[in-house]
Amino acid sequence: MVETDVVVIGAGASGLMCAIEAGKRKRNVKVLELAAKPGKKILMSGGGRCNFTNYSVEPDNYISHNPHFCKSALSRFTQWDFLDWVQRYRIPYHEREFGRLFCNDSAKDILNMLLTECDSVGVDITLNTHIEVIEHRSDRQFLIKTKLQNYLCRSLVIATGGLSIPKMGATPFGYKIAEQFGIKVWPTSAGLVPFTLQPDDKQLLSELSGIALLCRVSCLEQSFTENLLFTHRGLSGPAMLQISNYWRPGQSLTIDLLPEIDLAEYLRQLKTTKSKAALKTVLAELLPKRLIACLIEEKLLNSNMADLSAAQIDAITDCISHWTIKPNATEGYRTAEVTLGGVDCNAISSKTMGCHDVPGLYFIGEVLDVTGWLGGYNFQWAWSSGWCAGQYV
Ligand code: FDA
Repeated sequence: MVETDVVVIGAGASGLMCAIEAGKRKRNVKVLELAAKPGKKILMSGGGRCNFTNYSVEPDNYISHNPHFCKSALSRFTQWDFLDWVQRYRIPYHEREFGRLFCNDSAKDILNMLLTECDSVGVDITLNTHIEVIEHRSDRQFLIKTKLQNYLCRSLVIATGGLSIPKMGATPFGYKIAEQFGIKVWPTSAGLVPFTLQPDDKQLLSELSGIALLCRVSCLEQSFTENLLFTHRGLSGPAMLQISNYWRPGQSLTIDLLPEIDLAEYLRQLKTTKSKAALKTVLAELLPKRLIACLIEEKLLNSNMADLSAAQIDAITDCISHWTIKPNATEGYRTAEVTLGGVDCNAISSKTMGCHDVPGLYFIGEVLDVTGWLGGYNFQWAWSSGWCAGQYV
């Protein structure tokens, strides 16, 4: 039996951060990880360059049944605090669109930083650990039984992440532990994920595979202006990943394929200034020809601008600026970056990340019902929530 102050389950972004902070407080910390390596998702993130945070982090960038929950942690360990670490380690980084911060070289830089910090405060990480059962004893200690070893601790931190990319070892472990302790778990679904299409749309749009363009996509009240990518399986690109966090099965997406111009007004002007030009020539200056051919019937495309009626201009604008499509589904956890839903934040202290009703039990990171937008927000949540728990475990 190993007796320790703190056991953290999961050596991912939030678990490592929590372990470091607890270690700094001279707590004896053991991290138990199922996989053969720590921080696998960090390594695969941001196309291998890890979009580790964002210059602008606001509670509005997160989705939760309790939208206030994330505020405290995000304000106590901010993007600037994490950036201080990155700068202290002289990790080269750069800003991309929308304030997104990426490593110049490799996501390994972020993981190595976290592992060096763990090392410097004596955090012990045990890999390939299969946890069989967790018991809460009458002396308020947690007994964690694994195949090889049993652990006894007063503070138990669940940092096992969400369900995305099961191939990388994602498990529902954290949700099961919550349920074991009577904590509600909101239904989960794949987030930041591409869409698949209904058979007819798929057939029509498969020819567009490879086309990428700026669009404004909306679902109910939410919209994003980012790139859309047509793939052979459906719709992807940052715009689609962002809106997937808000989309529910059966809902339609409205897509403005020319978000930077007022198309109806533009066409009305060209009716007089380019009266002899064919509509298809005018539109080809704005959009890929293959895309135009999929959206607008050929006869209309061959019309001269002068011949277009007001109703036809409205119809063309509708097809391009209010293109409506009902996805069939999402690609699911196989390709999702995050998991929506999860452990109910109302059961957790937003200050400590500890459970109100189970003293000593903490949940941090993606296992909680807090999901960020694309752009470094999910890592920032992992750092912030992990940091907070690390102050109290
Ligand atoms: P995380 O998943 O990091 O860690 C959980 C750990 O628990 C894993 O090591 C897992 O093996 C372990 N575990 C699971 N079950 C266990 C069990 N039963 N016993 C022991 N250990 C167990 N976000 C962002 O902000 N910027 C980005 O660039 C990206 N890019 C990105 C790309 C891809 C492909 C994916 C899939 C995800 C992203 N993300 C992202 C999201 C980000 O990776 C994610 O939100 C954080 O890693 C969540 O951190 P956690 O610590 O909560 O879980």
